[in-house]
Amino acid sequence: MTTATDISQLSTEELQARVRALKKELNAVILAHYYTLPEIQQVADVVGDSLALARAAQKNTADVIVFAGVYFMAETAKILNPGKLVLMPDADAGCPLADSCPEDEFRAFREANPDAIAITYINSTAAIKALSDITCTSSNAEHILSQIPQGQRIIFGPDRNLGAWLAKRSGRDMLIWQGYCYVHDAFTETCMVQAMAMHPGAELIAHPECREEVLRHASFVGSTQALLDYTQKSPSNSFIVATEPGIIYEMQLRSPGKTFIPAPKDPANPRSICRQMKLNTLDRLYLAMVNRQPEITVEENLREAALKPITRMLEMSA
Ligand code: 13P
Ligand code: SF4
Repeated sequence: MTTATDISQLSTEELQARVRALKKELNAVILAHYYTLPEIQQVADVVGDSLALARAAQKNTADVIVFAGVYFMAETAKILNPGKLVLMPDADAGCPLADSCPEDEFRAFREANPDAIAITYINSTAAIKALSDITCTSSNAEHILSQIPQGQRIIFGPDRNLGAWLAKRSGRDMLIWQGYCYVHDAFTETCMVQAMAMHPGAELIAHPECREEVLRHASFVGSTQALLDYTQKSPSNSFIVATEPGIIYEMQLRSPGKTFIPAPKDPANPRSICRQMKLNTLDRLYLAMVNRQPEITVEENLREAALKPITRMLEMSA
């Protein structure tokens, strides 16, 4: 087994060259979320938001999927590909939002509202997906919601901020689970107002996992992909970006002349970073590929149950 010590002398470029060679040898595809480190995004075959990565996991001809993201993303890839080897650089890269929704409590929530269907954010465990009717991401949640008949009661979880934003946009009354993402929920109105005063020409753009007090000041609200697309289309030259700052790497690549300011978390902490996404380091990515572990597995009954809402999502957002 190759260890971190064996590769400690290698430069970033040497490690990236080894990763690219291993990709060919294993017939592997590397899927990376926009919140991962630039050196990971550079070796990935697909860099995307949660929806793009779920689609890429569904449609690929590789034998091995290496997922540089958080656990629920790699787990979703395994649910879609039971016959493939799915690897993660660090299996401890969990999503605290997903983990904030325990199976027993969510089951009780459903049982207390038997006439409601459950639309669940993809940032959830396989067990929660198995208890849900339809999965969604921040890119397709509004579109999926628009296909649910008026009058149908809806449970939405686990993100309270995305749920509140969807309820406001759609005018629908939803039963919302009170989880949140610590990265996005850390942004406050006070900090945004200060940042806008410091950068008067910059547009504030925000992810719907942010609180309503932040979203109400934003000129555009959207998923990571939608924010990226917006910065290309907007005539503005500078943006205050209220989401995980990993996306700024791709924003700068696509719009080299524009300025991107990470939204401040508080005066002492200028950026709100997802620690779990940053566990995907290049050395761990290489070691996962060379050692074929950590491997993601999902028990078959659970996989079949969790596949249903994911398939429904992919059909409803095709
Ligand atoms: P999207 O990738 O859907 O924008 O979600 C953001 C996020 O927090 C992923 O964990
Ligand atoms: Fe989870 Fe938030 Fe990190 Fe996304 S940014 S993986 S929702 S903790």
